Amino acid sequence: MDAIEVDGLKRRYGKGFEAVRGVSFSVREGEIFALLGTNGAGKTSTVELLEGLAKPSGGRVKVLGFDPYAERTAVRPRTGVMLQEGGFPSELTVTETIRMWAGCTSDARPIGEVLAQVGLSDRRAHVRVKQLSGGERRRLDLAMALVGHPEVLFLDEPTTGMDPEGRRDTWELVRELRRSGTTVLLTTHYLEEAEELADRLAIMRAGRIVTAGTPEQVVAERPSSIRFTLPDGLTPQHLPPMLSPATVREGRVEIRTPQLQEALTDLLLWARQNGVALPGLHARTATLEEVFLEIAQLPDEGEGGQDGGGQDGAPAQSGTAPGEREVQRA
Ligand SMILES: Nc1ncnc2c1ncn2[C@@H]1O[C@H](COP(=O)(O)OP(=O)(O)OP(=O)(O)O)[C@@H](O)[C@H]1O
Ligand SMILES: [Mg+2]
Repeated sequence: MDAIEVDGLKRRYGKGFEAVRGVSFSVREGEIFALLGTNGAGKTSTVELLEGLAKPSGGRVKVLGFDPYAERTAVRPRTGVMLQEGGFPSELTVTETIRMWAGCTSDARPIGEVLAQVGLSDRRAHVRVKQLSGGERRRLDLAMALVGHPEVLFLDEPTTGMDPEGRRDTWELVRELRRSGTTVLLTTHYLEEAEELADRLAIMRAGRIVTAGTPEQVVAERPSSIRFTLPDGLTPQHLPPMLSPATVREGRVEIRTPQLQEALTDLLLWARQNGVALPGLHARTATLEEVFLEIAQLPDEGEGGQDGGGQDGAPAQSGTAPGEREVQRA
């Protein structure tokens, strides 16, 4: 059994906008899964369904084998939740806030231990929540999610507002949790964070998952690139035909290829046989950022219902949007 199973999940706000439009993925026990996507893609709307905070308008979700909404009492004590907006009472101190939360948790961990784990020093333990900096509040939110020994942890933008050191500390903490068997589902806008942490990830757009897999699989779907400066006296027509089409911009040649190793071998053999130097030679696979931006720029058409001023229900979308690949079951 997977720790999280999501199948055809939908969420419509009231009678209007459908923010989640049939999302399917699963997260194995002890895995870190990242949900990516532009603002408004539907990440928080999805995660809230997994947390049992709202009832899906369609599809199915199971967390640790239970329906997190209908069987909340079975699921809630075994999960930790860090909302995108913490929203704890600002007049309480840090310690009081955690104590209050721990009071609602059976088997709560010692407060000092949790504060140390998220890097909130003793000095901060007795200040009021409203006096915390943005990054410190994020650490407090994380502490609350960790109080009850969660088996499954939901982190909605855990490191937004944290300084680089805090972010790295949080990454290390999340890895530590994975080592101890915790399943983690997180959302993030930091692609480096997803690359660093995620065993698998999914990129959402307009309520759907456009692509999913390991970070390596997701970037492998995109062509790699080889670049070099065009040697004097040569034009792209001199290049071996198997390397076309090459584009040349300001003297730099770029070859995009799904077969990086083969193309690079062809290029280097050709260069050696013809005594050609390739200044500034540079070869690399696609980056997660390129994949992300490409998805973000997919055309909007056929989506319907996008904040549609009072329109009831989006027109049914037929098939896949142009440029959009089949959703790969994660
Ligand atoms: N309570 C609500 N009522 C109506 N529409 C909502 C509500 N909450 C969210 N939405 C809409 O649903 C869409 C998805 O929002 P959601 O918060 O899930 O996005 P997100 O991917 O988490 O974005 P972000 O990266 O900005 O956090 C947005 O268009 C948003 O305006
Ligand atoms: Mg969000």
